[in-house]
Amino acid sequence: MKLKVAPHISSLVPYPPGKPIEELEREYGISGSIKLASNENAWGPSPKAVEAVRNALPGLHRYPDGSCHYLRERLAATLDVRPAELVFGNGSNEIIGLLIAAFLQPGGEVVTSQPTFLMYQKLVQVQGGSTRVVPLTESMHHDLEEILAAVSAGTRLIFLDNPNNPTGTVIDRDDFAAFMAQLPEDVIVVLDEAYVDFTDPGKRIDVMAYIRGGRPLAALRTFSKAYGLSGLRLGYGIMDAEMADYLDRVRQPFNVNSLAQVGGLAALADEEHYRMTLEKSRAGIEWLSREVAKLGCRPMETNTNFFLIDVGGDGRKLYQHMLQQGVIVRPMQAYGYPDYIRITVGRTAENRRFVAALAKSLQELGYG
Ligand SMILES: Cc1ncc(COP(=O)(O)O)c(C=O)c1O
Repeated sequence: MKLKVAPHISSLVPYPPGKPIEELEREYGISGSIKLASNENAWGPSPKAVEAVRNALPGLHRYPDGSCHYLRERLAATLDVRPAELVFGNGSNEIIGLLIAAFLQPGGEVVTSQPTFLMYQKLVQVQGGSTRVVPLTESMHHDLEEILAAVSAGTRLIFLDNPNNPTGTVIDRDDFAAFMAQLPEDVIVVLDEAYVDFTDPGKRIDVMAYIRGGRPLAALRTFSKAYGLSGLRLGYGIMDAEMADYLDRVRQPFNVNSLAQVGGLAALADEEHYRMTLEKSRAGIEWLSREVAKLGCRPMETNTNFFLIDVGGDGRKLYQHMLQQGVIVRPMQAYGYPDYIRITVGRTAENRRFVAALAKSLQELGYG
């Protein structure tokens, strides 16, 4: 076929699709495996969200509400922001793409960290822009000084994942204030807060103070993690109404499906399920960290529902070995941490099984 493909598209690498659990089980001849690899909510969606989605099924012949009216009103009240300061997307991933499409002029530059969430760099490339990546510090935090130093006249956006995936680290609030004070005022700062629900409120950045102070800052949130609705695809951005208006011009009219809208609305109202998720998640992380340390590994401190573990040997081999025991974790070689794995907190039985499998693998591989 004679296709004329722009070089910035032909050089893209497809996102490696994870195999369905059923396929992995067939391949490895195992059953009853557990997946602690994708930072999902181990306790599932709110039963109230499930019921709302079920009730909405007969209306599927209608297009969804393109403005997400009810969800917008409810979320604005919950967050104490104006409805016009919210932008909804097909997952917060879509908002990342909308921000880049709206504000990255051809040839423009983005600055972000490495390792961090992989989608920023990819979506910048899709739009024909370029990304400057700044390594994390030794302690795996965003290096705000080096990020400032990487900003040039062509920099349009900075992506800061906070807390950062895969490290679980957060930006210190005072450091962020100093960073903003030095940053040129026309550079857009995107704080990706996909995991902020799991972060101690005392460590969260007051994004509205910056937005109301006239800074071009967007905070991205999602229903995929603490709200357990990854499969529905619902995320949102909080930003100044003028910025939101530009994203509205770029987005497709029906970008958020009708089931996501009713599911999200019901999930927001189910505070009990939300609180339970956060409490169990925290308790599980604490337990796992203790147990992992007892096995001679080094668990990293985290502000999320996942954490990194220095396993003292090749993380990829360990991942393969654990897979054979039906425990799926995430190797970190591709992120530049060959001796680490990342795990997401699971339910009690899953966590116990993970620890038992880790102990077996460490011993059989001779790590430590
Ligand atoms: C840092 C970060 N941002 C965004 C997302 C995507 O979230 P969503 O499911 O809302 O697209 C993820 C998902 O893993 C993530 O880790």
